Formats: sequence, structure tokens, C-alpha cells
Amino acid sequence: MKVLVSIGTRPEFIKMVPVLRELKKRGVENHFLYTGQHRDLCRPLFDFFAIHPDTDLDIMKENQPIAHITSSILTRLGTVLDTVEPDIVIVHGDTSTTLASSLAAFYKKIPVAHVEAGLRSHDRYSPFPEEMNRVLTDRLASHHFAPTTLNRDNLLREGIDPATIFVTGNTVIDTVKLVAAKIKAEKKKQVLITAHRRENFGEPMEHICRAIAELARLFPDRAFLYPVHPNPNVRKTTDALLTGISNVRLVEPLDYIAFITEMASSELVLTDSGGIQEEAPAFGIPVVVMRRETERTEGVEAGTLILAGTAQSDIIAAAKRLLTDSAYYASFANATNPYGDGHAAERIVQKLFEISF
Ligand code: UD1
Ligand code: UDP
Repeated sequence: MKVLVSIGTRPEFIKMVPVLRELKKRGVENHFLYTGQHRDLCRPLFDFFAIHPDTDLDIMKENQPIAHITSSILTRLGTVLDTVEPDIVIVHGDTSTTLASSLAAFYKKIPVAHVEAGLRSHDRYSPFPEEMNRVLTDRLASHHFAPTTLNRDNLLREGIDPATIFVTGNTVIDTVKLVAAKIKAEKKKQVLITAHRRENFGEPMEHICRAIAELARLFPDRAFLYPVHPNPNVRKTTDALLTGISNVRLVEPLDYIAFITEMASSELVLTDSGGIQEEAPAFGIPVVVMRRETERTEGVEAGTLILAGTAQSDIIAAAKRLLTDSAYYASFANATNPYGDGHAAERIVQKLFEISF
């Protein structure tokens, strides 16, 4: 079996590390392709996990339109597939790298395996373009590795062949367990924040920043740590609304181990990220999700996440209650994280061996 794993962004790499390691452990011939969608955010991670790409398509441009990502990968990956001739292409998640890689493989009639299949918000414009990337990738894929039974049910509702769906848990938990053993977290009076989603640019992002500024005023004994995504659309709002507040610290993106250490040391996380909704509960940290919807509804039901929306007053109310009501906080801190047991990658690679090519 010869596989080609294609990833392009920070979360795809973080969540594919366990699969890449397991492929290596089981002696599978793998061509690791990096589209370069995230030029800066991935490279330090390659060094940290000591896994380096065989090919870098190097496509990133400053403030890139989605069409730039999709079209450049589609053309360049096609050429690589002609040379490498893998039996299967493995993609992860819902980025434009994911969709473009799946389509490039489909054009070459190479089967696609989709890791983190079946997540749905059921709103085609939110998250944008991720929701449509997921739907289209699952349609293109021949094998679907769904983290949860809810994800499997979403696929079944769309008419995907049940024989192609395998529930595995989310590989993010495999990665978190790997690094949790290496960190030393000491609890601080700290709130950790991230926000980067395209549908939140402009007004929602202003609400998010104003909510953080107000929370910093209401809770002067708390430190608000915000590693800011390099996207200029994010930075212009954070710079305008959050600089000069003494207990708000805007910093460059943190390397993974530093980020997980800060997360495990924090009281609370405010985010619009996907992966962080799965990681923070692994450390018993409640998450306020600053989005209109979430495809991680298992976390809302399990009581690990609060879906607050993006209105300033709603974000403030959710965070304020968690920071002041200790019984309420404890119910989040003690809830069971529904995203897996840390063995997802083993199940995925075992299944690949059972698929005949
Ligand atoms: C992308 C994914 C999103 C995923 C997110 C994870 C798409 C359309 N979006 O969003 O699904 O949740 O990654 O973080 O696939 N930039 C840099 N250096 C980097 C990375 C980004 O400077 O290493 C800047 C560039 O100006 C770039 C911009 O950020 O053009 C946006 O990057 P892009 O990958 O298009 O979108 P993200 O918002 O990161
Ligand atoms: N992360 C990181 N450093 C940071 C912020 C996030 O290493 O400064 C990690 C985080 O632990 C998670 C992933 O990046 O695993 C989430 O990436 P992001 O929020 O960009 O994407 P999403 O999960 O929304 O697709």
C-alpha cells in the first residue's frame, strides 16, 4: 500500500500527526505532501514533531482568496500525483487544502480517505467555506473516518454508503495525550482566547474584541492571553480594539506545546476554533464558543462547551457566569469529553490495511 497524505494548515497537521506516526510505525510507504497553505504556522510544528514533508507546494499568499488556494493546489497536486502514483490519498477536515486535494485525487481516479468526516453545522455559509468543504469532500471520498456516531449519522443522512464509514474518535485526542505527558501546567487566573473564522470578520470580530475588553475591565485580577492569528483581517480588529489594555496580552501564535501548556493552565477558553473545542475539555477547561453555530454539538450536550454566539452581551454573560459561579463552573470542568480515547489513529491505519486496493 502506498499512500499520499495531504495537509496544508496548522490544525490539519496537528490532527494528522498521530496518523503519520502510525503509518510510519506500521511500515506503510507514505508521501507526505504539504500544500503550504499556512506558510508560517506549520513549519515550527514539523520541527517539533520531527515529521517533515516530502513535497511543499508553497502556495500561500498574503490575504489569500479562497479561490487562490483551491486553484493552485488543484493544478500543482495533479502533477505530483502523476509522479508519486499513490494507491490512496488521505485528507483531513474541512479546509480548502482538504477539498482541493480530494478533487485533485478524484480527477486522477485515486480513492480518497477522509479523516474527520461527517462534521456538519447544517448551515452552508457558517463556518464558511468549511461547511461546504466538508460536504463536498465527503461526496468525493471513498472512505470516511468519522470521529463520533453523530458524524456517522450525518453521513448516512446524505446517502453515503454505510460500508465506507468507520467511527474512530478524533485524532486530536491522540495528539493532546501525546503532548500532555510532556507539559507542566500550573493553574493561573487566566483566560485564553483565539478567533480567526472568515464568517466572523468585520462586525462579529468587533463584538468579540469589545466583549474581551469589557471582561478585562470587569475582571481586573484575570490575565487575558490572546495569541492572534496572522490573517490581516483578524489583526486589524484586535490591534484597533485590544491594544493598551493592561490585562489583555496580544501575542504571536504560540507553538503547539506552549499553547497547550497555556490552555491547561487557564481557567477558561474563549474561541471560534474547531480543534480547541475538542482539546480544552480534555483538560477540564470550559469553552465559550464565539460562533453562531457549532458542528461540535456533542460538546454542548456533554456540557463541555457553551455556544454563545457572537453578540458582545452574550459572550460577556457566558464568560461572566463561568468566572463567578463555582458550581456552574465545576459542572463544565467535570463533564466527560466526548471526542475519543486517544486511539483514533490506530483504528484508522488498521482500517486502511483492511481496505483492498
Ligand atoms: C484556514 C482554513 C480554516 C482553518 C484555519 C486554521 C480555509 C479556507 N480556511 O483559515 O478552515 O480553520 O486555516 O487555522 O481553508 N497567514 C500567514 N501565515 C500563515 C498562515 C496564514 O501569514 O502561516 C495569513 C496570510 O495572510 C493568509 C491568511 O493568513 O493569506 C489567511 O490564511 P488562510 O489559510 O487562507 O485562512 P485561515 O483563516 O488561516
Ligand atoms: N494552536 C496553536 N497555537 C496557537 C493557537 C492554536 O498551536 O497559538 C493550536 C490549537 O491547540 C489547535 C489548533 O492550533 O490544535 C487550532 O487551530 P485553529 O484554531 O487555527 O484552527 P481550527 O481548529 O479552527 O480549524
